[in-house]
Amino acid sequence: MRTDLVIKLGGSAITQKDTPYTPNSVVIKRIAQEFSSSWGGRRVLLVHGGGSFGHRAAIKYIDGSGKLCSPIGIAETRHAMHRLTSLLAESFLEKGVPFFAIDPSACFFYEEEGAKQNLQYDLQPVELALSAGLLPSLGGDVVLSSRRHGRILSGDTIARILALESSAELLAFGTDVDGYIEGGKTLGKIGRGALREMIAATKGKSNDVTGGMPGKLSEIGEYLSSGGRRALIFNATRPGTVQRLLRGEEVEGTYIDID
Ligand code: IPE
Repeated sequence: MRTDLVIKLGGSAITQKDTPYTPNSVVIKRIAQEFSSSWGGRRVLLVHGGGSFGHRAAIKYIDGSGKLCSPIGIAETRHAMHRLTSLLAESFLEKGVPFFAIDPSACFFYEEEGAKQNLQYDLQPVELALSAGLLPSLGGDVVLSSRRHGRILSGDTIARILALESSAELLAFGTDVDGYIEGGKTLGKIGRGALREMIAATKGKSNDVTGGMPGKLSEIGEYLSSGGRRALIFNATRPGTVQRLLRGEEVEGTYIDID
């Protein structure tokens, strides 16, 4: 499987994070329009976050070790993500973009042994969807474990795995900020060394069930040390950014390169 771009739309961009179960419809519709005008059949994988849908549901049920043990909690979280995915699908389909939702809970699972959690997956459905000319889309999700509980799988992790497995040219994380901001300024470009310092500096600064900006930086660190080439944190709420990425152009944001 090969892709040009793996793009993750963060929950902070596509939902109103502080209002339960509320999409940011203006942003979703605009991004759907930008796909419609600029996607042009390029090999792109779309991932989306949970924002005020998935996080809202998960936070009620997740325990201190990251497990969702109650069947109703697992099912409610799954359903919350379905609702958000459906809203995205409606907007993209309305613009004639063949948004094809693939449930990560059906192709990812955890094999747990002692304290070890091995994430297993089968990405063939994603590859087949790409070959069929679809726009595969996967949302952060609650995935099941061999120990009979659920765990949250962040869209950031899914995006990293998809980008590595498809040797993507670029792994782009869309948020509601202009990139990594330090001292009030967005850093335009950073290397792997600086990334390590940033991860240490932001550690413990998130109340998000999946780690917020620090979690994103760690995913990028892992991506680059596993063979990934280039990652980006950009503002998906700014008109035209997604469009430019789809056209292979650079956008304002923080680019993190292997060197
Ligand atoms: C979270 O996915 C999924 C659930 C809580 C079920 P993400 O971690 O990718 O979501 P955002 O982007 O932070 O909202």
